[in-house]
Amino acid sequence: MIIAIDGPSGAGKSTIAKAVARKLGFSCLDTGAMYRAVAWQALQNGVALDDEEALGTLARDYEIAFGHVEGEPVPRRVFIGGTEVTDDIRTLQIDQAVTPVSATPSVRTALVAQQQRIGHAGNYVVEGRDIGTVVFPDAEVKVFLTASDEERAHRRVRQNVDRGVGSVDYAEVLADLQRRDKADSTRATSPLKPAEDAVHIDSTGLYIEDVIDRICQLARQAQAAPKEA
Ligand code: DC
Repeated sequence: MIIAIDGPSGAGKSTIAKAVARKLGFSCLDTGAMYRAVAWQALQNGVALDDEEALGTLARDYEIAFGHVEGEPVPRRVFIGGTEVTDDIRTLQIDQAVTPVSATPSVRTALVAQQQRIGHAGNYVVEGRDIGTVVFPDAEVKVFLTASDEERAHRRVRQNVDRGVGSVDYAEVLADLQRRDKADSTRATSPLKPAEDAVHIDSTGLYIEDVIDRICQLARQAQAAPKEA
């Protein structure tokens, strides 16, 4: 079974996807981390962010892998070409570089193919922007998760404080979220938009546990009454 969770930056997708996966015994795939890893590698190799061909080659040639922190059931560590980039892909520099990288069609083609290969191998919660629309249009459960801009910015600041990486300046984080929302929703290739059959959940003011329970409930319903082929 695939549970697709799409939505804008900072809506809580990562935390919620990991918790749902843990509860249901599913694996979890953070597709945003894959775009971030390619952006990191591009900066590392001095590839220009408007060089479509070079970015595509990079996305095809460098293997992206996920790993576990000991004792954690859901993978959190990210590697590209064998180098660990778990924390290095969460900086403001990568927040900015990932926008042109994720808008590059050849990068998307390469990463979507990898995501489909990974997801088809088992039961997965997959989070991103185009999972229910492009990567897994037949996903059994599709959720479009949103929250107000202000709440998303507050959450992202708290997350950055906890991780010890990224900006902790609220105004800067809010402006960057809004810039990325606009870029993600207006780009030509696979823009952020809800799948027609997605369940919309606005998590503003909701307890995270309630959102997790709601998605687990949708998964159980889909298991009991599969969608018609
Ligand atoms: O979810 P995130 O903030 O880590 O995602 C990083 C960037 O990658 C974000 O700007 C949007 C892009 N992205 C995408 O275009 N498609 C996905 N499936 C996941 C992320």
